[in-house]
Amino acid sequence: MERTDETIERAVEALRRGGLVAFPTETVYGLGADASRPDAVARIFRAKGRPPAHPLIVHLPSAEHSSRWARRVPEAAERLADRFWPGPLTLILEKRDDVPDAVTGGQPTVGLRVPDHPMALALLGAFGGGLAAPSANRFGSVSPTTAEHVRHELGGAVDVILDGGPCAVGVESTILDLSGSTPRLLRPGGVSRAELEAVLGTEVVVGGGHVRAPGTLASHYAPRAEVRAVPPEALEAEGRRARDAGQRVALLSARALAGLEHVCLPDEPEARARRLYAALREVDARGFEVAVVALGAVDEAGLAAAIGDRLRRASAPRPGPEGT
Ligand code: TXA
Ligand code: MG
Repeated sequence: MERTDETIERAVEALRRGGLVAFPTETVYGLGADASRPDAVARIFRAKGRPPAHPLIVHLPSAEHSSRWARRVPEAAERLADRFWPGPLTLILEKRDDVPDAVTGGQPTVGLRVPDHPMALALLGAFGGGLAAPSANRFGSVSPTTAEHVRHELGGAVDVILDGGPCAVGVESTILDLSGSTPRLLRPGGVSRAELEAVLGTEVVVGGGHVRAPGTLASHYAPRAEVRAVPPEALEAEGRRARDAGQRVALLSARALAGLEHVCLPDEPEARARRLYAALREVDARGFEVAVVALGAVDEAGLAAAIGDRLRRASAPRPGPEGT
């Protein structure tokens, strides 16, 4: 085992050469490059196979760095950063003119976040600048929550992979757009809408905007297998139906049921979020064609909203290669 400070040093050297470093955060693993260098950022898109016009989040060592990237840091952003950074919240702000288009997909805004993981903070602190980093997976596939997931999917394309163990939250950050007249929640995540509203003292509108955001495509975060989300009371029947139709089916559930195969996905929201992406990967690794998962109706609050969002996307009809 290398000493951590030596590994961080190697990672910083790679970043200074314009290389790619995969690093752990509390949400999912990120694939990082120097956000001030368009050539380095271009390598991220090549490694992921992601279309170039999609904006990336800039990860910062601390909130004080925000003004290097944002033209204006509104008071609301300061209050939210104060309360939730480091943490699973990305703020979309008007960008400064010198932020590379490669980072923002040519948009007038930039996404900023300070991740809450000791290794990410050590890396960012030693680097001393912003790291553009999407989730460290191939475009359209499931986000990685262990270093092993990254090695498996992107190994050869990355200069250094920092291993910080399994991610504590397990689903991507909440994205809040503060660039318009009303705060808009673009993606639910580890910080809930209610928590945001409590700090802001105003309503947060859900969705909207016109921004291309891969995490907001209907079919995203999907394994190879077909995912069927059904009401809890229909779980067992749907599993049997698939099995009787001759399909290799697994239930994504806390417990085995009715002799059906099963991949463990706990019920309790925090454990469920932490395990979600590893469970979807396990479905593929074990060769299942169909995974059936229970999904309650609407009124999901907190982390359950983020889990419901990802499961609905994983189970959405898959577009052709253009839209994945
Ligand atoms: O938890 C996370 O946010 C992880 C870790 C690594 O920090 N990152 C992540 O990155 O999920 P990615 O690229 O997979 O998803 C980032 C999302 C995308 O949906 C992207 O379009 C959106 O953030 N985004 C980034 N900049 C934006 C901007 N200026 N306006 C609107 N959406 C933006
Ligand atoms: Mg992603």
